[in-house]
Amino acid sequence: MTTGETTVGWADGVVLAIDQRALPHEVRWLRISSVDDLIEAIKTLAIRGAPALGVAGAFGVALAARAHRDDTLAVTAAAERIASARPTAVNLAWGVRRALSALLAGADAVLAEAQLMLAEDAEVNRRLSAHTADLVSMLCPDRPLRVLTHCNAGRLAATAVGTALGAVMELHARGKVAEVLVDETRPLLQGARLTTWELAQAGIPHRLTIDSAAAWAMATEQVDCVMVGADRITADGSVANKIGTYSLAIAARRHGIPFVVVAPESTRDLDMATGCDIVVEQRAADEVTHVGGVATAPEQTAAFNPAFDVTPPDLITAIVTENGVVGEANINARQPITRPESVAATSQVLNSD
Ligand code: MRU
Repeated sequence: MTTGETTVGWADGVVLAIDQRALPHEVRWLRISSVDDLIEAIKTLAIRGAPALGVAGAFGVALAARAHRDDTLAVTAAAERIASARPTAVNLAWGVRRALSALLAGADAVLAEAQLMLAEDAEVNRRLSAHTADLVSMLCPDRPLRVLTHCNAGRLAATAVGTALGAVMELHARGKVAEVLVDETRPLLQGARLTTWELAQAGIPHRLTIDSAAAWAMATEQVDCVMVGADRITADGSVANKIGTYSLAIAARRHGIPFVVVAPESTRDLDMATGCDIVVEQRAADEVTHVGGVATAPEQTAAFNPAFDVTPPDLITAIVTENGVVGEANINARQPITRPESVAATSQVLNSD
């Protein structure tokens, strides 16, 4: 993939998308020509990440509008199916709605709207990355940063630049990143497969860790800041993001580490009052009972597999969008509940390498 290439796009009447299921082993491009195939790509996470879903959803409406030029009802029905392919990331329904709003002007207008959204995505992500880099530099001025991130909030998830990872890239360009600690992000390993791939391409030092090591990394003073993306931000400032985000926020609060959420305005759902109203997608049990197609649990084992969790606002230091910090940074969220000095001292003995 070249630097300027978007991870979702349109060419010759089809949606082009990098197949995120195949990474990091293979850079494979999908050419999606029907709404059914697009929905399949979204459900199986070939296309994933909230902003990328928004743009892909809009191109899906363009596919439907071109397939049913004289049948508005058919296009609307297809749009509804696309919007509900995954329920938690609000960007998907937002992208579909926005493209659909051009339908009265015809199929070409729908496509033009989707193309505009693609172009806007890069610009929006550049702006929110710069705002986040400014904020994080202010919150953690002392030394090059050790950032912990979860899932993948890079250009794969956002068509271009990235959100939380875009901000990490911006900090790196400013010479302010010592290391990124990447949670592998069970069960589908977006951190291990995708974030490490993007960081390696950008030449940013990073180490991969298991999700359950994150709190210990904080306790042993190996993390200066946690930076994550979001799938839906409700009016009260609650944040739905990849499962495991909530535990990171609790651990960050325990250790007085800034916890920063980076997302475009299109991820904010101001019509939804609180995080309690968010529908959390539940996914298939075999994502938990199998790894890479190999069973890791006895046959028929039941599983709890929520794809997302919801972090309450009091654990979040700041939410940053292309417009800057939403409201005011919550400086209280930086106060450790108790200082973990004894744990840090123990770890110096244990960290032999
Ligand atoms: O299930 P996924 O891989 O689509 O979940 C993605 C995330 O949770 C991302 O952190 C979020 O969409 C932000 S992407 C910029």
